[in-house]
Amino acid sequence: MSEATMVDYDGLIPNNVGLNQDARVRRALETWHPGYIDWWKTMGPEGFQDALVYLRTAVGVGAEGWARFDYVKMPEYRWGILLAPQVEGRTIPFGAHKGQPALQEVPGEYRAMLRRLLVIQGDTEPASVEQQRHIGATAPSQYDLRNLFQVNVEEGRHLWAMVYLLQKYFGRDGREEAEELLRRHSGDPDSPRMLGAFNEATPDWLSFFMFTFFTDRDGKMQLAALAQSGFDPLSRTCRFMLTEEAHHMFVGETGVQRIIQRTCEAMRDAGIDDPTDIPRVRALGVIDLPTIQKKVNLHFSLTLDLFGSEISTNAANAFNAGLKGRYREDRLTDDHQLLQDTYPVLRLKDGAMVQEDVPALSSLNMRLRDDFVADTAQGIARWNRVLERAGVEFRIHLPHVAFNRRIGEFAAAHADTEGNLLDSAVWQARSNTMLPTDDDYRYVESLMLPVRERGAYAGWIAPPRIGIDNKPGDFEYVRIE
Ligand SMILES: [Fe+2]
Ligand SMILES: [Fe+2]
Repeated sequence: MSEATMVDYDGLIPNNVGLNQDARVRRALETWHPGYIDWWKTMGPEGFQDALVYLRTAVGVGAEGWARFDYVKMPEYRWGILLAPQVEGRTIPFGAHKGQPALQEVPGEYRAMLRRLLVIQGDTEPASVEQQRHIGATAPSQYDLRNLFQVNVEEGRHLWAMVYLLQKYFGRDGREEAEELLRRHSGDPDSPRMLGAFNEATPDWLSFFMFTFFTDRDGKMQLAALAQSGFDPLSRTCRFMLTEEAHHMFVGETGVQRIIQRTCEAMRDAGIDDPTDIPRVRALGVIDLPTIQKKVNLHFSLTLDLFGSEISTNAANAFNAGLKGRYREDRLTDDHQLLQDTYPVLRLKDGAMVQEDVPALSSLNMRLRDDFVADTAQGIARWNRVLERAGVEFRIHLPHVAFNRRIGEFAAAHADTEGNLLDSAVWQARSNTMLPTDDDYRYVESLMLPVRERGAYAGWIAPPRIGIDNKPGDFEYVRIE
């Protein structure tokens, strides 16, 4: 591993940003550290703070070999500040300052905007840990329990990543924001997290897998757009965070895939051809496919809201300023300034859906959301291949983007999963055929019985094809004292 990609593990806070030479920021982070640990112990995984968990810890930031696996007690996890290597001669890739040297400090005129971007991103990271804090108790296997905790510690590290930028570049304001990030809590009526989907409950493992599939993917899209930033420290931070985010989506996608697979196997063994015969499928102790579809409808629509209004001057300003780019900006071949361009946006006009060409700068949220939908669809296609291979006549579909929305063009309307606009009465009558009902939640909850033996899996989920770190099927991923 080269000098530039190695992490210094000597001090309290592992880092590759030279904290030893930066007494001011080191002191600020060390002052914040006890509050963070306190937050982790009170708001993090409940009941497993003393368990030894087989976790990966980043030891470098190079593309190859950046992780080490070992048993760790979670409160002793080495959360660090890890930036991808600086790219020599990098320039601002887009916006009004395109082509100028990448920013190493924050220009005064963009301070407020950048601070807001960091705080919004930072707020989501601890929120998901809080949302998932109870579900360790009902894990379907040691393998899944370990994956939950890996996601949790990495979301904790993502909080560190944003807090570092706040403290390094925003002085006292940054320190105050860092305290606030520990003070707000998911679902807290007095001081909730900033974005809706991060105040929803994660009551069971189907919800957890759906969350990591859909909502962590919003994280991926936001990080990918910020990784393009002309503010170089933000770009470098996000580039490394994306390597961790890939694992979160793996957990979600393979989690749901294994549930679908198990349902198909159980139906085949029982000779059930009709996937919509819910009582018979549930009698087998597996999750019926229509319920999985309803959960897709719910989590997809909640996650779309995270992209904000389709048409947004904030998004245009952040792009012009060179702070937040588009998904894979570096692979796009236009002028990266978009002053003359338009982008098609689906809008609600006089009670009808119409596609309208809107200035491309104003519709960047819409564009990122479209990229999200395309990325999501690839995962759904892989789920459907499991159904196809099993010969089961059912396919998972993404609902229409107007379905069940709280933010943006369709917030005031009701639409079904096909995108037909409905009046309130029809919506009331039909919504429980499209969204999970109390009864659906009760059924899924009834399956949530913990499985703790090595190599064993709950009856509603298939084992994974390969273990973490290539470990054998009966590997002890979590040692509970
Ligand atoms: Fe994250
Ligand atoms: Fe994540």
